[in-house]
Formats: sequence, C-alpha cells, structure tokens
Amino acid sequence: MDILGIDIGGTGIKGAPVNISTGKLRAERLRVLTPRPATPVKVAKAVKTIARHFNWRGAIGVGFPGIVQHGRVITAANLHKAWVGESAQALFHKATGAAVQVVNDADAAGLAEMRFGAGRRRKGKVLLLTFGTGIGSALFVDGKLVSNTEFGHVQIRGKAAERRASDAIRTKKKLGWKKWARRVQEYLNHMVLLLSPDLIIIGGGAAKDYQKFAKYIELPVEMIPAQNGNLAGIVGAALAGRNVSKKTRAKK
Ligand code: BGC
Repeated sequence: MDILGIDIGGTGIKGAPVNISTGKLRAERLRVLTPRPATPVKVAKAVKTIARHFNWRGAIGVGFPGIVQHGRVITAANLHKAWVGESAQALFHKATGAAVQVVNDADAAGLAEMRFGAGRRRKGKVLLLTFGTGIGSALFVDGKLVSNTEFGHVQIRGKAAERRASDAIRTKKKLGWKKWARRVQEYLNHMVLLLSPDLIIIGGGAAKDYQKFAKYIELPVEMIPAQNGNLAGIVGAALAGRNVSKKTRAKK
C-alpha cells in the first residue's frame, strides 16, 4: 500500500508517496521551504501543495517538529507559537481532504529506521537522535516506541541541548566538525548516563555528514548513522499514516 509521507521541518517541508511494505519512495520527493512565519495556515498550505503535486487521494502521514498528542500540537519550538493547542490533524485534513495522521517528526524517523534501517531487528533500548534545525529523539524499548520523548530539550550548561548542539547551530556558529563533535559528545554522554541505551542511531540532516564528525566521538555504546538518512522522516510519517488508513477502512 502507498501512503503519502510528509516531513515538516524547521527549514524544509518534504513529501513523497511511500510503499509502506518496502519503505521505498514511489516518486522523487518534493521539498518546499518552510514558510516564515511558520503559522498553521501557511504550513497547511504547504502540505496542500505537496498533496496536490502528487495528485494524492489516499491517506497521508505527517511528521511534525513538536510534541503531538492525538493529533493536537502541544509544543512547536521551531515553528510559530500559534501552533500550540492547534489540531494539526484536523487542519491538514481540511487542507487536503485526506485522512491524516500526525506524529512527532523524530518518532516518525525512528519508526522508519526500526522497520527498514539501522534499528532493524534490534532489541533492548534503541535511541534515535535527529540533528537538524533542532534535536529530535525517538526511544524504542524492544522495538516499541515511547513517543514524544523530547530529549533535545534536556539542559546542557544551562541551555536546551538543541540550542548548543543541533546541526543548525553548527552552521550558524560556523563550527568545524571537530568543535561541533565536542558539543555532540557532551550531549551524548549525558544521554548515555540517563538512559544506558544499547544502540544510538544518528539521523536528521547530519546523518549524511556522519563520517565527518563521528570519528571524533567516543562512547561506551554502539553508535551508527540512520540508513534512510534524511528520508527516514518521510518514510516514517507514511508508516504512521498506515494507522489512519486502517481506521478509515474499518469505518467503511
Ligand atoms: C522539537 C521536537 C522535534 C525536534 C526535531 C525540537 O525542537 O521540540 O519535537 O522532534 O525539534 O525537529
């Protein structure tokens, strides 16, 4: 079955139809810039543009960069504050006419990596961290997702970790890979201390640059890059959309 996966990021909004049995994209992804200010109305328009581009009539899964509970946005650190309290699910449904499921973006990326990528068949505690505009997290215990963990907001030196060690901060502060890796190392040490994970998967925009910084990081825990790289968000959003398409079929 194909589901349209859409990954809303602080910088870009990306979407593509995904075959959810194989995790493969059915068409080249479309990326539009995240509108600024990233208000609910403007972001919903961008979601509509993507659905229209693929002439989409089926179910849609969306990864959103904030806490999402039952389709409602609880936080949106890197988008407009008008999102807080908004039902993203209802809004995107209205914009596209489709059955829509909205989940946290890092949780979506984690679902894709656990099913088709670096976390396949991995038991125990698997922690996926996405380094992009912010830092997203997805925690799996024996393959089961503990949703909305928000570990990018743990405090390091009195600041949310994502304000020190996200990929966007690396670019903004023009940090070299080694310098940035030191910040990532400090953050990862903290996460290892808190969670004792069995495996850490590095995803988000930084996944494609993994070789450039991973060599500076030493951990007592296995660390590997996300295999779906930056596409994990789209693939995982589509996987999450499977639930809504099931519900829709059940109602018919
Ligand atoms: C948000 C998370 C999100 C992460 C990556 C953070 O600022 O709070 O929900 O997963 O950015 O987009």
